[in-house]
Amino acid sequence: MIYLDNAATSWPKAPGVAEAMSRFLLEEAGNPGRSGHRLARTAAERVESARRALARLLGVSPPERIVFTLNATDGLNLALKGLLRPGDHVITSSVEHNSVTRPLRALAEQGVQVTKVPCFGDGTVDVDALARAFRSNTRLVVLTHASNVAGTLQPVAEVARLAHAAGALFLVDGAQTVGAVPFRVADLGADLLAFSGHKGLLGPTGTGALYVGPGVDLRPTREGGTGTSSELDVQPSDLPHRLESGTPNTVGIAGLGAALEYLEHRGLEAIRAHEVALVRALREGLREVPGLRLYGPEDPARCAGAVSFTLPGLEPSEVAAILDASFDVAVRPGLHCAPDAHRTLGTFPLGTVRLSVGPFNTLDEVRQVVGYIAQIARSWG
Ligand SMILES: Cc1ncc(COP(=O)(O)O)c(C=O)c1O
Repeated sequence: MIYLDNAATSWPKAPGVAEAMSRFLLEEAGNPGRSGHRLARTAAERVESARRALARLLGVSPPERIVFTLNATDGLNLALKGLLRPGDHVITSSVEHNSVTRPLRALAEQGVQVTKVPCFGDGTVDVDALARAFRSNTRLVVLTHASNVAGTLQPVAEVARLAHAAGALFLVDGAQTVGAVPFRVADLGADLLAFSGHKGLLGPTGTGALYVGPGVDLRPTREGGTGTSSELDVQPSDLPHRLESGTPNTVGIAGLGAALEYLEHRGLEAIRAHEVALVRALREGLREVPGLRLYGPEDPARCAGAVSFTLPGLEPSEVAAILDASFDVAVRPGLHCAPDAHRTLGTFPLGTVRLSVGPFNTLDEVRQVVGYIAQIARSWG
């Protein structure tokens, strides 16, 4: 199989992930921070060493500012619902994933005011429109770092400056960039950064995290046992315990820890250079297919690893089904949980075919896939 659905979840996972998870379940699976025995101590060390590795990767100090979540959606919900109150105003964009759009819609029904600023045809947010959207009660700007549909990287540092000048906080959805695009949290200017552990970080599903910056006080969306301050019936105020109640996904975090070791060893700069080369090969090859329409920025350096296209006369779901059935190529068609992004690109309601690369794809593979798509355009269209 040629797997080009890394934006949904990466596959294969990093070398060592399956082994670390199996070892954890067979030999280490105590409850971290809950008891003093060897298994509990080992489990706690797996969780805390993964937290330290994430903090190193993102330039975060102290590591306790990294809160483990189930996925990016969980972190985004925690940030949005832990921060915003009725009467607050929040600014977002017209290319967001439903993991931002739907919590904001639910919050709007409780009295939070939401402004969606438009994006240009390639998915880049209109920064001038964003600058005009601030109000005296703007509490937060929330923006994806890269579109999961067209790959478009957003000018996050510029948006951070605008948010901070207006006294607002900045939440970045890093689902498509953490692990795939090298950066430190300070480069983004983010006060909050939510991300998945199972996409660019090459860890298992059921893992993710939220970075919580200094001066950001999030109300927990879940209270409960933390293994600390157990004599009190109120939630502890220190991070990560304030926001991490209940037994965590220890086996998943053990796998994520192994993935982070691999990423540290291979290096994010090298991974990014490889993925830019893959995106360039895809875009250059697909541009030659008669009638095919490509979306997103022309320059691969302005994109994360996703490339979207449509073919005349064939629905995206038909193209994906042919790629799967006739060529054993895995891609994702449709709206990609981001209907606003497709409205922006002009591809709503059928969506696009999305090819999304990862560190284990090769130039040979993407060239083969371009050939298959050219064949589909000739024979099926
Ligand atoms: C931009 C973006 N945000 C959020 C998410 C949600 O991520 P998760 O599946 O880890 O909750 C995705 C998933 O595809 C995404 O692409």
